[in-house]
Formats: sequence, C-alpha cells, structure tokens
Amino acid sequence: MTATILDGRELASRLRVQLAEEATRFASAHHRSARLALALVGADPTAALYAAQVERVGARIGLDVAVRSFPEDTGELALRTEIAALGARADMDGVALLLPLPAHIRQRVVMEVLPASKDVDGLGPQNAGRLMLGFPSFVPSTADAALELLRMAGVSPHGKDTVVIGRSNVGGKPAALLFLRENATVSFCHSRTPDLSALTRQADILFTSAGRPGTITADMIKPGAVVLDAGMTHVNGVVVGDVDFASAREVAGYLTPAPGGLGPLTPLMLIRHTLIGPS
Ligand SMILES: NC(=O)c1ccc[n+]([C@@H]2O[C@H](COP(=O)([O-])OP(=O)(O)OC[C@H]3O[C@@H](n4cnc5c(N)ncnc54)[C@H](OP(=O)(O)O)[C@@H]3O)[C@@H](O)[C@H]2O)c1
Repeated sequence: MTATILDGRELASRLRVQLAEEATRFASAHHRSARLALALVGADPTAALYAAQVERVGARIGLDVAVRSFPEDTGELALRTEIAALGARADMDGVALLLPLPAHIRQRVVMEVLPASKDVDGLGPQNAGRLMLGFPSFVPSTADAALELLRMAGVSPHGKDTVVIGRSNVGGKPAALLFLRENATVSFCHSRTPDLSALTRQADILFTSAGRPGTITADMIKPGAVVLDAGMTHVNGVVVGDVDFASAREVAGYLTPAPGGLGPLTPLMLIRHTLIGPS
C-alpha cells in the first residue's frame, strides 16, 4: 500500500481563499480589518518563525497581525500586565501568547488575565475548560488543524479507534478532546506508556505530537491507518516530524508529511478563530 499524502500546503491554499472572503466580510461589518496580536518572549527560533508565518499569511488574507516582541528577561508580572492591556483593547480581536515561554514565566499566571473572548489559541483556563465540557470554545491551532485536515480529506473520526501520542496542553490533550467530540474512541499515550506499539497498531487514526523524530515507524502502524504528524523538531537545520515518513507511507492509508502537513494549516486556524470566533 502507498499512502495518500495529506498535503497541507494544497489544503491551505484553498482555505486562504475562504478566509480572505471572511476577512472582507469582517472589514465591512466593523469598518476596519480584524486585528491579532502575537506576544513573543525571548528568542526561541521556532516561535519566531511561527510569528513571521502568521504575520505573512495574515497580510495575504487581509488580517492586521502585530507581533509584540519582549526580551527574554521580561518579568512575569510585566508580561501579565501587557497581555491584560492587549486583551482589554476594544480594537483587538485576538491575542496569542507564543510558546515556549522562558522558564521564569508561568503560562498560567499570564494567561489568566486574557479575556476568554480574545484567547484565540485556546490556551487559557476558560477555553480549555469549555473544550473539556464540550461547549463551544477556542481550541489550540495545531489540534484544530489536525481535525480540519481530516475534514478536508473526507475522513470522519466517527467510531474510529484513535491513538493520540503526547499530552501537552497545546498538542495531545486538545487533539484528543476534539477527536472525542467527533465520536472517536480515544486513547492517550505519553512517555510513560509501557508498550506504545501495542496501542498504535490498533489505531485507525494515529495523531502524534511527541516532538521526538522516529517515535513512529512502519511496524507500529495498522495497515491503512490515517497518520497525522504534528512533530516539528530541528535536526541539523532541517525540520523533522515524529514519523519515519519513508517507511510509514508503505503501510498507512493517509499520511501527513512533516513539514508540509499540519504546519501550513496551523496559522490559518489561528486566523480563522480571530475572524469567526469559537467553534
Ligand atoms: N505542527 C504545528 O503547527 C505544531 C505546533 C505546536 C507544536 N508542534 C510540535 O509538536 C511537538 C510536540 O510539542 P509539544 O509542545 O506538545 O511538546 P511537549 O510539551 O514536549 O510534549 C510532548 C509530549 O509527548 C510525549 N512524549 C515524548 N516522547 C514520547 C515517546 N517516546 N513516546 C510517547 N510519548 C512521548 C510527552 O510525554 P510526557 O507528558 O510523559 O512527558 C509529552 O506529553 C513538537 O515537535 C512541536 O514543535 C507543532
């Protein structure tokens, strides 16, 4: 079997057209473009690249994206004050705090001052709680991108055995809750899961967000399964996913490349949340 490759770049170009129409509707309803602020603290290269990507894609769509850069030694209270001020602006439609934060800043302390209605990446306690309760909410963009990719490929998670690798608040946890909302039967795996392959081999849908290249090899995949790779690790200057792509494509039914799978859709989810609101 050779997997159908789920090409995020191709899907992203279709979605960009739809979102540009939404941006035009927003602008005529509000007499201004939609505005999104990204708070970037320190010099993490992945976060900086992501900020630049959102800014670039936002400009193409017609969204006003402002990257606010803060030095690595910014105090927790100072950042909290800045986030509260951004969230309080009537002309600001969304605020996203880019991760990772420097070790001395607690994400919880900063995020709790951002109004839920502006927390477009769903990292705050209110949106996370609403997602857990099955209420409409903003959800972290990578998890949303995985479900969007499946929708666009015409694959329904309904009734599927779904294995999620990783339990971070931005990756595995929200993805698992979204799969559950779509009536999948979901298992969480993490670094303490003793026999990972015994579980992954049962999966009709396998979502991995471990950030460890080589976590998934062909022998761990059920023939015909849908494999979604959110991993993005820099190895010798090249971005690599969690899945051994070359061997996995001989077994899987559908497979995302990494990069070029979920990555191109992620900024579009953030932009969609800003334009349209929670789902
Ligand atoms: N595509 C995108 O747009 C996008 C967006 C955000 C992040 N990412 C990427 O996604 C990856 C994960 O990011 P993150 O922030 O979620 O990372 P994280 O906070 O480090 O979480 C990694 C998770 O994977 C689990 N894990 C690690 N090694 C494992 C193994 N060998 N077997 C099973 N589980 C394992 C960890 O388990 P424990 O909980 O037990 O430690 C943890 O739950 C990174 O490569 C990141 O760059 C991609």
